[in-house]
Amino acid sequence: MANQRLIEVSHYTFEYPDGTLALSDVNLDIYENQFIALIGQNGSGKTTLAKSLNGLLKPTSGYVKIDSLDTREKGTTKKIVTKVGYVFQNPDHQLFNNTIEKEIAYGPNNIGLSQAEVKERVEEAARVCGVEQSLFHEHPFFLTKGLRQRVAIASILAMRPKTIIVDEPTTGQDLRQSLEVMNFLRDLWENQGHTVIIITHEMNIVASYAQRCIVLTKGKLVLDGTTREVFSQPDILAEAFVKPPQITRLAQAFPDYGFPKDTLAVEELYQSFQNVVKKAQ
Ligand SMILES: Nc1ncnc2c1ncn2[C@@H]1O[C@H](COP(=O)(O)OP(=O)(O)OP(=O)(O)O)[C@@H](O)[C@H]1O
Ligand SMILES: [Mg+2]
Repeated sequence: MANQRLIEVSHYTFEYPDGTLALSDVNLDIYENQFIALIGQNGSGKTTLAKSLNGLLKPTSGYVKIDSLDTREKGTTKKIVTKVGYVFQNPDHQLFNNTIEKEIAYGPNNIGLSQAEVKERVEEAARVCGVEQSLFHEHPFFLTKGLRQRVAIASILAMRPKTIIVDEPTTGQDLRQSLEVMNFLRDLWENQGHTVIIITHEMNIVASYAQRCIVLTKGKLVLDGTTREVFSQPDILAEAFVKPPQITRLAQAFPDYGFPKDTLAVEELYQSFQNVVKKAQ
């Protein structure tokens, strides 16, 4: 059976109050249990789209429906935050409580859960995000940026939303922290049935983690397919100012040798290379 549709975006157009047209006529369906990368150059509309998928921004025209809840309708916000969580591009725009514990508990408290349930969710979210309980009474302001971001992710996870959107999960993190965050997001997708949407400029991260890739250029959706399909369209990507991973570009540079143009990993290119050598012998 096909996976259930979680979010429907139809002819979605968004204009900021100053008249900037950030998104125009975007059509998109998000399904249960997908790992999606949303990519595109600076200013292409990724953050605007992410904030539209959880009703933070309302359409200028068109609509977004989450489990059939229309974000245009009043009174849907409280239900939507339990379905789609958005982790801000800059955690400092999200964190506003004076202790880490209050920060993570804020959402669950706000939807009226019992204190026992709030406590359980806070502890679980902190544990999976690697936020130690010894830090619970610290002010988020005094943490490193990487840790602040993990607190931001924990505060969203405590709502247990089916869809979680993380805007630039690896910015400000060192390599070890980046891998930790990414592997943790992969676990949410692979083992816990969540749909994860990441926004990133790092194409190696896209190649390693995302199954599906959506490309925006100047507010328009120009590609939407499996990561392999998307990275094998160098011309459209060039127009979107997106460079596929280096290994993909290397394979694409030698089409006559039979290197697949949707190569995503060094191991794949190595295998293709061995095949070429075998044939030549
Ligand atoms: N609050 C705002 N008011 C007016 N225009 C805005 C506002 N926020 C964003 N924009 C504009 O909307 C367009 C899309 O911006 P958005 O932040 O969605 O892009 P992005 O793809 O997330 O970029 P980045 O990769 O730099 O984060 C850009 O032209 C941007 O300047
Ligand atoms: Mg952005």
